[in-house]
Amino acid sequence: MASIQPADRTIQQPIRTSFGVEKGCSRPGQTARGIRTAITGVNHLAMFGPECSAKEAKDTKQGVRVFSFFMLHCVEAEVVKNERLSGPNYLLTFRSFDIASQSRAGQFLMVSPTSSQIGPSPLLKRPLAVYSVSSERGTLSLFTLLIKTVGEGTARLAALKAGQTANVIGPLGNGFEVEAAEGKTAFLIAGGVGIASCYMLAKDLRKQGNEVHLLYGGRTGDDLILLEDFLDLGVELFLTTDDGSVGYPGRVSKGLEEYMKDYDPRALYFYACGPEPMLQAVSGVAVNCRIPCQISVEARMACGFGVCLGCTVKTTGGHRLACTDGPVFKAADFVWEEQI
Ligand SMILES: Cc1cc2nc3c(=O)[nH]c(=O)nc-3n(C[C@H](O)[C@H](O)[C@H](O)COP(=O)(O)OP(=O)(O)OC[C@H]3O[C@@H](n4cnc5c(N)ncnc54)[C@H](O)[C@@H]3O)c2cc1C
Ligand code: FES
Repeated sequence: MASIQPADRTIQQPIRTSFGVEKGCSRPGQTARGIRTAITGVNHLAMFGPECSAKEAKDTKQGVRVFSFFMLHCVEAEVVKNERLSGPNYLLTFRSFDIASQSRAGQFLMVSPTSSQIGPSPLLKRPLAVYSVSSERGTLSLFTLLIKTVGEGTARLAALKAGQTANVIGPLGNGFEVEAAEGKTAFLIAGGVGIASCYMLAKDLRKQGNEVHLLYGGRTGDDLILLEDFLDLGVELFLTTDDGSVGYPGRVSKGLEEYMKDYDPRALYFYACGPEPMLQAVSGVAVNCRIPCQISVEARMACGFGVCLGCTVKTTGGHRLACTDGPVFKAADFVWEEQI
């Protein structure tokens, strides 16, 4: 079997290749060891402990999911810049050719600080949208994350300094369908940190020739960040705040109903990213007015690649995993567990 990589070491090629799993799965013992080591090296998931035999790994659905996971890239990415924005928001730029060159609008990464730098942590990786990708010396090798600190996981990431590193799995998830909005006026409806999924989408839509409007809501004016980036793309802005300090006073979903009065619904296409009540309200408007709408759901995620089944959501086609079937779903197909 190929050499075993220790935890937190950079793995620049697909793990399947690094560990020789494909070859090893016919030889009991070796695959189990490979799986255990790969998972330990990446995420400390106990469910694939030493008792996971080669047969289990090969024959069970879990095994299939693990092999899919092996196909993904896991990298140790260096922080190039950490910029504090207003409120609890940080913009962190990392260097990784693999992530920067492969990420598409609406995809996300599972991220944690490299444990050797901050001491052992019981925390799992946290899902974060790819805000943007950019070039360094002519090569697309930088990616930027917007981090709003809400708990220990995001606080630890936001504390990373230039030169330190994070373990990153991804890019993950399906991302937005951009071509579906061709010829339409695109409304991007974002609440809070949902803005993180909108920048690459706005860029792709503008490139496709769409007129793009960003309807962006926060609790206060401080929550409305990164506006310049969208203005630079030629995006029209409509801002709302719950406290009325900036823009339309009230929720962005209410503002949407006012704003869209000037438009023919048949010419519109919606994309929505943000907290669940906002997504549900926007979906309601879209379905009532027969406007196609894609929503990016912020489900709780433990693994991010289809193993733990902790991110199950309901759709008209049955249960789906937000991490692998989503996080983007068609609003008309999504079944909300709690009605607002
Ligand atoms: C696909 C996806 C993309 C995301 N992109 C971003 C991003 O770009 N930037 C960003 O800052 N955050 C993003 N999030 C949310 C982020 O993952 C969570 O805020 C983070 O995991 C919280 O970890 P924590 O340890 O800091 O807080 P915890 O201690 O785990 O939680 C702190 C508080 O936040 C709440 N919370 C935690 N996770 C979620 C969630 N998924 N949805 C709603 N409430 C939650 C908890 O209930 C608790 O009240 C994304 C989530 C998903 C699923
Ligand atoms: S987060 Fe584990 S299956 Fe989706």
